[in-house]
Amino acid sequence: MTEPGAEESKAAPLSAVVIRSIRPADAAGLQAFHGRLSDDTIRNRFLGPHPVLRDAEAHRFTALARGEGAALVAIVDEVIVAAGRYVRLSGGDAAEVAFVVEDPYQCRGIGTALLTLLAHIAWDDGIRHLVAGTFATNRAMLDVFMHTPHAVTVMNTRGDGSVVHLVMGVVPPDSMLSSASEPAGLPARSRHAEVVGGISGLADEL
Ligand SMILES: CC(C)(COP(=O)(O)OP(=O)(O)OC[C@H]1O[C@@H](n2cnc3c(N)ncnc32)[C@H](O)[C@@H]1OP(=O)(O)O)[C@@H](O)C(=O)NCCC(=O)NCCS
Repeated sequence: MTEPGAEESKAAPLSAVVIRSIRPADAAGLQAFHGRLSDDTIRNRFLGPHPVLRDAEAHRFTALARGEGAALVAIVDEVIVAAGRYVRLSGGDAAEVAFVVEDPYQCRGIGTALLTLLAHIAWDDGIRHLVAGTFATNRAMLDVFMHTPHAVTVMNTRGDGSVVHLVMGVVPPDSMLSSASEPAGLPARSRHAEVVGGISGLADEL
């Protein structure tokens, strides 16, 4: 994996980042975004190689059916630099969440902001648990989950222990915000609140 911050000079300042809902018109931009990701980032996102985001996938990721879930993109100058989504699991109040941040933008709070905003939307959507499968070695993903004010449990692992399944209890946005601003919170949480405030306002359409 790229060293955190190693390519920071190629990234725009956080104030230039806007997070908004994904749109069907983002399909080509999402494919181009995928094409700029490093092999390690792709492997961590898809739990294996995934060199190309095919047209059908790009369409599926950008045009969620009503009630299926929600997806966000982080944009800099009309270019996608991160994407996150949750998809409701059948017949319940749980959804699977996944997100990916372009390499030069990693380790700057965007993943945390995406998870925070997706959790807000998920709560309003009746989702009470977000689940994610990730490599046990994916420190960044584990940190993003562990440093939110949500309760996180590790459900189980793949037979060989290489994949961890995380389950996060979703809480109402109000209780999450007060938790994030508590002085006793971890340093990461204060930074997280800072980052959510630092990224240009979430589009009104959410
Ligand atoms: C996982 C991922 C989405 C996190 O997004 P991010 O914007 O980099 O994360 P944040 O900046 O919000 O950082 C969250 C924590 O992860 C740590 N982190 C971020 N990138 C890291 C990296 N490359 N290596 C080690 N730690 C990293 C940060 O230090 C931070 O920890 P802290 O809160 O203690 O400071 C992003 O790294 C990514 O796209 N990875 C590849 C795809 C992936 O793994 N997706 C998850 C599975 S669906």
